[in-house]
Amino acid sequence: MKRMAVVLAAGQGKRMKSKLYKVLHPVCGKPMVGHVLDTVKATGSERTVVVVGHGAEKVKAYLGQSAEYVLQETQLGTGHAVKQAKGLLGSEEGTTVVICGDTPLVTAETLEGLMALHESQNAAATVLTAVMEQPAGYGRIIRGEDGGVLRIVEQKDCSEEEAAVHEINTGTYCFDNAKLFAALEKVTNNNNQQEYYLPDVIGILREQGDIVLGYQTNDVTESIGVNDRLALSEAEGYMRERINRRHMLGGVTIIDPASTYIGAEVIIGTDTVLYPGTVLKGKTVIGEDCVIGPASEIEDCVIKDGAAVKQSVLNQAQVGTRATVGPFAYLRPGTVLGQEVKIGDFVEVKNATIGDGSKVSHLSYVGDAEVGRNVNIGCGAITVNYDGYNKSKTEIGDDAFIGSNVNLVAPVTVGRGAFVVAGSTITRSVSADDLAIARVRQENKPGYAEKIRARAKAKKDQHSPS
Ligand code: UD1
Ligand code: CA
Repeated sequence: MKRMAVVLAAGQGKRMKSKLYKVLHPVCGKPMVGHVLDTVKATGSERTVVVVGHGAEKVKAYLGQSAEYVLQETQLGTGHAVKQAKGLLGSEEGTTVVICGDTPLVTAETLEGLMALHESQNAAATVLTAVMEQPAGYGRIIRGEDGGVLRIVEQKDCSEEEAAVHEINTGTYCFDNAKLFAALEKVTNNNNQQEYYLPDVIGILREQGDIVLGYQTNDVTESIGVNDRLALSEAEGYMRERINRRHMLGGVTIIDPASTYIGAEVIIGTDTVLYPGTVLKGKTVIGEDCVIGPASEIEDCVIKDGAAVKQSVLNQAQVGTRATVGPFAYLRPGTVLGQEVKIGDFVEVKNATIGDGSKVSHLSYVGDAEVGRNVNIGCGAITVNYDGYNKSKTEIGDDAFIGSNVNLVAPVTVGRGAFVVAGSTITRSVSADDLAIARVRQENKPGYAEKIRARAKAKKDQHSPS
């Protein structure tokens, strides 16, 4: 049976009170509609049509080539939205899943179960339902005496009796494709919201004698529809738990899941340990045997096997095998650390490559630089890379030694094996194996300290009344 899907994503999401279109609001770092699309794809949908409207360009730009699109110019309801896909899917035969772009927690397993029941029973429609303690806001599933689904009634159209029903419509359905589009022609907007409701298709099919089923999920959290920021935070919480669980079952130790935030697309190797306060974002990839945290924020980074990062912030950086970062380091975009590099406390690195075995142990800034292997950059040494207009590059060869508190005024090169004396301000390049010293020569004045103190005291006594 051919499998297709329609994802509804045209609404503005007024209840979000946001400039961002609803389905683009991220849950664990990934827009809701992205979660939905990935789930649908995982169940083998051969054609996936996303109905776009509000923010159409933004939604399309985000999802790209992964779907087909159809525009719903005015938002006249979910039934009207699905109808827009008729031009693309109307002549297909098979099973069509319809799912809302604002239900990010529906899982592929559940969708698979829904489709399996639907297909095995040759149903015209199967609706995914859930029993909710507080069903307010959701459509209610009205069942007949035989237990079969008769129709769905929206909250705003419910009688008192109907409102008391706790089984709700999750907004995910499976349809026989031809029957779906035929039934949509019969949907009217004769209701309290004057909208064309997709759930009405269920009642229409049932009335004409078709097989209509309900498939109840036992995980009610899956059915959360995110209409406002409260539901968004709930969805975030459940998704976070689910992601953490997946990583723990996959061999990652998470010391305190409640304070560990892992983005939906992050990859982590086995035997890596995450300490509390770890925040992993974007497309971060972490290898095996790493130790991350406590209190570290890592976004779009690649951390190789055996590396350690503590109390640090990393963005678009690469950390080599067994390298150590922190505490209190800041790695900015373009940082590439080789194997066993050491970046210590209060070090900032930006757009710089640091070769295997090199050390920047304390209080340094390394920006726009290429640093070789086994280089030692002393405490407080910095690259002076910016003149207010231009960024300039610093190159440091293998085995060079940069003393403490050195300023390397770029553009400048320090050759392989060179030695730059502490406190130097280097403005001219240093050749390989040379020693560079650029500081005022020291002069000592014997006994002069006492003289200075006497002078200072006399000045003070003169100014303060006795
Ligand atoms: C809908 C269901 C309700 C169900 C709930 C589950 C209807 C009428 N009601 O209600 O039974 O319990 O989902 O979460 O379907 N959309 C469009 N075009 C439109 C209107 C909506 O594309 O003209 C999209 C929205 O962007 C959203 C989805 O359809 O992603 C659902 O719309 P929403 O307004 O959130 O429906 P609910 O009131 O939550
Ligand atoms: Ca909704």
